[in-house]
Amino acid sequence: MAARFMVTTPIYYVNDKPHIGQAYTTIAADVLARFHRAGGEETFFLTGTDEHGSKVEETAKKQGKTPRELCDMNVEHFKKAWKNLNISYDYFVRTTDARHQKAVEKLLSVMHKATGGNGEKVIYPGEYSGLYCVGCEKFITEKELVDGLCPDHLQEPKRVSEKNYFFRLSSYLRQVGELIRDDRLKVSPEERKKETLGLLKQGLDDFSISREKVSWGIPLPFDPKQNAYVWVDALPNYISAAGYGDDSEQFEKWWNQGEVVHLIGKDILKFHAIFWPAMLLAASVNPPNRIFVHGFFTINGQKMSKTLGNVVDPGYLVQKYGSDGTRYLLLTQFPFGQDGDIQADRFVEKYNSDLANDLGNLVSRILKMVCNYSQGEIRKPSAYQESDESLRNEATGCAEIVWRNVQEIDLKQAIDQVMKLVRSTNRYVENQAPWALAKENNKERLDTVLYTSCETLRIISALFYPVLPQRCGRIRELLGLSGEALNPTLEKAEEWGVLEPGTKVGTPESLFPRLEKKAKREKPKTVAAEDDVTAEVSFEEFSKIDLRVAEVKEAEKVKGADKLLKLKIDIGSEERQIVAGIAEQYSPEEMIGKRIVVVTNLRPARIRGIESKGMLLAAKDGKTLSLVIADKDVKSGSEVS
Ligand code: MSP
Repeated sequence: MAARFMVTTPIYYVNDKPHIGQAYTTIAADVLARFHRAGGEETFFLTGTDEHGSKVEETAKKQGKTPRELCDMNVEHFKKAWKNLNISYDYFVRTTDARHQKAVEKLLSVMHKATGGNGEKVIYPGEYSGLYCVGCEKFITEKELVDGLCPDHLQEPKRVSEKNYFFRLSSYLRQVGELIRDDRLKVSPEERKKETLGLLKQGLDDFSISREKVSWGIPLPFDPKQNAYVWVDALPNYISAAGYGDDSEQFEKWWNQGEVVHLIGKDILKFHAIFWPAMLLAASVNPPNRIFVHGFFTINGQKMSKTLGNVVDPGYLVQKYGSDGTRYLLLTQFPFGQDGDIQADRFVEKYNSDLANDLGNLVSRILKMVCNYSQGEIRKPSAYQESDESLRNEATGCAEIVWRNVQEIDLKQAIDQVMKLVRSTNRYVENQAPWALAKENNKERLDTVLYTSCETLRIISALFYPVLPQRCGRIRELLGLSGEALNPTLEKAEEWGVLEPGTKVGTPESLFPRLEKKAKREKPKTVAAEDDVTAEVSFEEFSKIDLRVAEVKEAEKVKGADKLLKLKIDIGSEERQIVAGIAEQYSPEEMIGKRIVVVTNLRPARIRGIESKGMLLAAKDGKTLSLVIADKDVKSGSEVS
């Protein structure tokens, strides 16, 4: 067991609020960090935000903010989301932090001075001309486009032509390949290792490390007219946060002496498994130990993307399922490391069956029996019988199996193992029927069965703690644990007899209240939606709304109303007039030609005496408002579904 463990998430773009894709990685990293802490390792859990580059710069401009204002606003959404999800990070890095910028400058200076194996400069000036996808923040080739658009973001890439500095990646490909081949840099699961080695075999071009025309970035220390390419600024967050260029003692402790694991989604494999180790080699810094690549998920069978606008807000899930419920539901949908589908449609069912029934009921049932039959006191067990021994062995042996799964970062398997123990305990209680023992006044047997149940529950609460920290903490309190003992360790999860006879248990409470399944099929809230979960509509209700793409033909201010614009719109079948409260954010001139989305089947309303036959869709964040806009290829009158 390594004494030190450092785990990282990707740092997320702050052009928008967090979505459940990012929450998924962050929850997984948190579970890993908590397991390693419980395993007695000194742990450093790093997450943060990627704040520079075109994506943020362009979004800020659209919203009438400076990039800094946009970052400062959205970073708070990330922090809040992670707090709501009980994410126990040790350090939150922002690429706009002075400490990070200093580290990037140092890294780039070292790389700039370096020469590759054949004596050539590692960084050299060159001319770049090609396509750039702002959504991906990467250069993209004609071959990768589908109908002229980036397939991931359905955006047309920009043609970029400028003087850049390049990194001589080609000088390091062989070395990176060796590191990965013999697992000094372990890329897992295995198929991702193969994929990386395949990419290396094909050969990769040197890449540009700076941008002349992107002004929101870190200036190159050797040519301040250019800013660092956003990935060249982002990847070093892993070392800047560990102390590179600032605190050599910390850096030594975490980066050089810890086991460093990067957790990422498969979309950013090339950057992490090839570009990043190559940059580190060029700067004579150790590579990380491991890169674990998880898959991508769809939601109810549909691809999810911010740009497509069907992205679920993790805050909504927390309000509905609690932080533990959300953590559990997201991690148990499909094996960690593979692609899968998040069956949000079936969340209520799964929550009720696993958490409310299997775990929640078990806890309240056991505590209730201790209260009713033993005056709320855990009593000393007498001779164990085979059934007790069997549960005891399963419980004390579980930590080792779970720890092995955690080492392999097989998080779903680890969770399934603990759930198996929960179910065995339920069966044990059912078979031993303490209620019958109480009736028969078989005190010795009753004490043994209840002790065995409580001890197993203590072990379950320790093994489930990394996944369900809030509720498991409470289970431990209810079991009468206090002080140091509240903090679960894997070591104690392998021991038996930790609960002291005579301990008073707490009054049973509903830990995971059952949820009612309201609608047949639910539409989860998206990132743009308000936080009000009570505004849920059923699928049937939702499908009654007729949403259409409409082109704005004419627009003018409504006299005497600062907020209103009167619009003439073409909804395909007819032209209509609507009144919309967008005048503070949009001028009449800029509205002309916009392809907005309108609810067309509302009863006509009169606003300030003017007839309005429809309502447009817009996202609102405080005073900031953004219209929902359809692509120019979609005809007026097209249905929005
Ligand atoms: N800023 C870069 C990362 C720089 S790291 C030095 C970036 N940011 S991101 O905000 O786009 O986050 C990408 C990450 O979000 C993915 O690697 C993955 O961890 C997570 N996911 C985004 N969508 C996802 C799914 N649909 N499914 C699973 N994970 C998803 O890329």
